[in-house]
Amino acid sequence: MTILAIETSCDETSVAVVRDGKILSNAVSSQIALHAEYGGVVPELAAREHLKNLLPVALAALREAGIAAEQLDAVAATQGPGLPTALLVGLKAAQAVAFALRKPFVGVHHHEAHLYSPWIIYKDTNQSFIANFSAFQPNVSLIVSGGHTILALVESELNHRVLGSTIDDAAGECFDKTGKLMGLAYPAGPEMDRLAEQGNPKAFDFPRPLLHDASDDFSFSGLKTSVRYFLRDHPDLVEDQQKVRDLCASIQAAIVEVLVAKTIRAAKRIGVRCVTASGGVTCNRSLRNELAQACKKNGLALRLAEKFLCTDNAAMIGILAERKLLAGLPASELDSEIKPGWELA
Ligand code: KG4
Ligand code: ZN
Repeated sequence: MTILAIETSCDETSVAVVRDGKILSNAVSSQIALHAEYGGVVPELAAREHLKNLLPVALAALREAGIAAEQLDAVAATQGPGLPTALLVGLKAAQAVAFALRKPFVGVHHHEAHLYSPWIIYKDTNQSFIANFSAFQPNVSLIVSGGHTILALVESELNHRVLGSTIDDAAGECFDKTGKLMGLAYPAGPEMDRLAEQGNPKAFDFPRPLLHDASDDFSFSGLKTSVRYFLRDHPDLVEDQQKVRDLCASIQAAIVEVLVAKTIRAAKRIGVRCVTASGGVTCNRSLRNELAQACKKNGLALRLAEKFLCTDNAAMIGILAERKLLAGLPASELDSEIKPGWELA
C-alpha cells in the first residue's frame, strides 16, 4: 500500500510517502527561524507558512519517493491535536487530494503516531527505515514534546491508554521557557542540551515536581517558576558562561530525573518489559542516556524513536495510517474536521 501523509500541526510542514511499512521519503520544512524572532510559535504565521510550503514540500516528497500521485492508494493527515489554522492547511489539502484521486483519506491523531514511531527502525539490508511491528512488545511509552508530556500503556498494536500527562507545562516548554530566562533563543531545548554537556548537573538544586506523587502525571511549571525566582535573585549568573552551562545541566537533570523515574516506575508497576520514548525532547542526549541506563538496571527493553522521527514528521503519520487501514479500520470521512484539542484515549 502506498500512502501520502501530511503533517502541519505546529511549525513543521512535512510530507512523506510510505509504502508497505517503509519510509520512501519524509520531506520537512521547518519554520523555527521564522518563529524564533517572536520567541515562540505564532499560529497565524505558522498557517500562512504551511500554505506557502505545502505544495513544494509535497512535490519534493513525491519526487524523492519516485512515486506519481496516481500510484497512491490513500492519503493521510494529522487531524489533531495542534494549532487550529495550521491543522486546517494539511487536513484540507489531504482531503482534496484524496477526493481528486478517489482514494481513502485517513485522519491521524498526532500522539498516537508518536506512540508507534519507536518501532520504525533502520534496516541495513535495504538501507531504509521500516516499521518493524513483528518485534512489538507491550510497553510503557513516554511522549515528550514542546506541547505535551504523556505516559501511555501500549498493550498491543493500536491498543493503548493514557496513564498520565502533564497537569500544566510540557517538558519541552520547560526547557524552552527556562532557556529563554537565560537569554537563549527559541526553542532553547537543543541549545540547553549542548550547553549542559559541559555543565555540572549538581551545581544548583531545582525541584523535581511530582517525582514521588502516586499518579503518573507530570508538572513542570513549578520548576520553571523556581528557575525564574532563582535568576531574579542571582541576575549576574547569566553573565558567566560556565554558570549558564551549570544552570542548563541542573535544570536538565531535574526534568530528566522526573521523566525517567516515573516512566520506569509505571513500567514496573504494570509489569511490561519494554519502554519506548518519542517526541522532540527525546532528542535530548541526557534523557536518552538516563533512560538507557535505568532500563538496563531494571531489565527493561528500550526503544527510542530515531531523532528525525522524534520531532514532528509526516512519516510517522503515514506509517500509522497504513497500519490502521491494514487492520481493517474504516477510513475517515472526506469532510471530517480538524480536532485541535483531541485527547489521546
Ligand atoms: O515534538 P516537537 O518537535 O514539537 C512539538 O512540540 O510537537 O518538540 C519540540 C520540543 C521543543 O520544546 C524543543 O525545545 C524540544 O522539543 N527539544 C529538545 C531537544 N530537541 C528538541 N529539548 C531538549 N533537548 C533537546 N535536544
Ligand atoms: Zn509531536
